[in-house]
Amino acid sequence: MTDFGGLLREHRLRIGWTQADLAERSGMSTHSISVLETGRRRPRLSSATWLADALGLDPKSREGLVAAAAALPGSPDPADTDTDTDGAGAGATAGGPAGSSRGGSPCHLPAATSLFTGRAAEVDELLGAARESSPGGDFGGSAILAIDGMGGLGKSTLAVHAAHRLRRDFPDGQLFLDLHGRAVGAEPLAAEDALARSLRALGVPPAAIPDGLDARSSLYRDRLADTRTLIVLDDAAGTAQVRPLLPGTPGCLVIVTSRRRLTGLDDAHTLALGTLAPADATALLHKVAGPGRIPAGSPAVGELVALCAGLPLAVRIVGARLRHRRALRVADLVERLRDEHTRLAQFGDEGRDLTAVLDSSYRALPRAEQRLFCRLGPVAGTDFDAGTAAGLIGVDRRTAERLLDSLLDHNLLTEHAPGRYRFPAFVGLYARLRALPVSGRAGGASAWPVQSCGPVQSCGAGPSGGRRPCNPAQPHDGPHRVKGRATPLGGLAALH
Ligand SMILES: Nc1ncnc2c1ncn2[C@@H]1O[C@H](COP(=O)(O)OP(=O)(O)OP(=O)(O)O)[C@@H](O)[C@H]1O
Ligand SMILES: [Mg+2]
Repeated sequence: MTDFGGLLREHRLRIGWTQADLAERSGMSTHSISVLETGRRRPRLSSATWLADALGLDPKSREGLVAAAAALPGSPDPADTDTDTDGAGAGATAGGPAGSSRGGSPCHLPAATSLFTGRAAEVDELLGAARESSPGGDFGGSAILAIDGMGGLGKSTLAVHAAHRLRRDFPDGQLFLDLHGRAVGAEPLAAEDALARSLRALGVPPAAIPDGLDARSSLYRDRLADTRTLIVLDDAAGTAQVRPLLPGTPGCLVIVTSRRRLTGLDDAHTLALGTLAPADATALLHKVAGPGRIPAGSPAVGELVALCAGLPLAVRIVGARLRHRRALRVADLVERLRDEHTRLAQFGDEGRDLTAVLDSSYRALPRAEQRLFCRLGPVAGTDFDAGTAAGLIGVDRRTAERLLDSLLDHNLLTEHAPGRYRFPAFVGLYARLRALPVSGRAGGASAWPVQSCGPVQSCGAGPSGGRRPCNPAQPHDGPHRVKGRATPLGGLAALH
């Protein structure tokens, strides 16, 4: 009998495919194809079947290829394959192979940051809610945990941290999907494409992924049925994007993060993430800045932490500056950050940019909310009510209330008492700067759009007759990043 590797190679060359072509169609890596062809590994039977499918073999050739795999001596190399499994062992998913490059179930979670700090109550809440969702219970669908909050608060970090803690409860796999809800200069990932990626991650070969949202969605649900799979959907644009990605049966857990409150996900356990407590922000600053960089008992440290307003992204940026600029003193940094007009521009480094984060949230707003946001700039340092908002944009109170609700849902506003609103710290600074003409915006000018939102007329009709955005898209790679390659994690990978 012809050896498996030789036979595989023969079939591939007969249809004129390169190893990369076969890799692309089978969902395996080129490296795996290469080692199988040269006989350096014994394939699993499921891999052989899968390759036969990808090659489009007729039943006889297919049988021959699978038989050649079965005839090889010894047991399959655990390093095989991108496709794995034969339905045996902890990693098997119901009804088919799971997409893992290690063998076993797929784990696509990014690394959790080793500097994770604070959030004890939030982690407890998430783990508790996740563990309540036992597959044998009365629960009708899979559990959903939705984390929302403004950019840079640590939603993705918390979701990944919790997912790692929960990994062992979900032996059939852990998927991570960046939905690019706030990707700068790009559309959020279409649900259909998100499903294709998830199906690949679940081990479905590209050729077996059907066209169309409904067909993909039902295959996805079928693959997940009766499994314990954890799915992290990071940076969702809204409920509509998430809904087709929800498993249909109990047993799985979905953790969604979004800058928006996902008010349409009625079944979800929601966690509105707040800022870091001052003690935790201080601890994080110490960790990031490194040993010996924060003088004990210095009053400047408290002021620096306060200037970061409990936003982990801000703490990370100033901490990294202290770590890398050994001559910089905490007091110098505080001095630079005191000026409200230039403060925002200080929160950026080669990989991160707080202004870009806020900019991307602003651009996700509908036009009417953008207009109100700009107009609220001058009152951003105070609290205000719907009457003030209505007066600023010349609408009735009900309309103003609806727009304020929408800003609340986008986490760009807080309602600290019934009917009383104010901006979160950095959002207020951003709103104030947005209200200025371009020439009045100090610092970080390159991060600002070319067009002012100060005069309300600047948000008027565009050439096509539709309303043009106040702020055209900026060429950033992701919400936190200012340059460099976008990562599967969006901003997250750059921030650890
Ligand atoms: N609890 C934490 N401990 C340590 N670092 C944290 C923590 N939370 C967040 N960070 C850091 O703060 C930065 C921003 O966090 P993250 O990307 O998770 O924010 P986000 O809320 O997901 O933002 P976005 O809405 O832009 O996606 C990252 O550098 C992250 O590592
Ligand atoms: Mg995030």
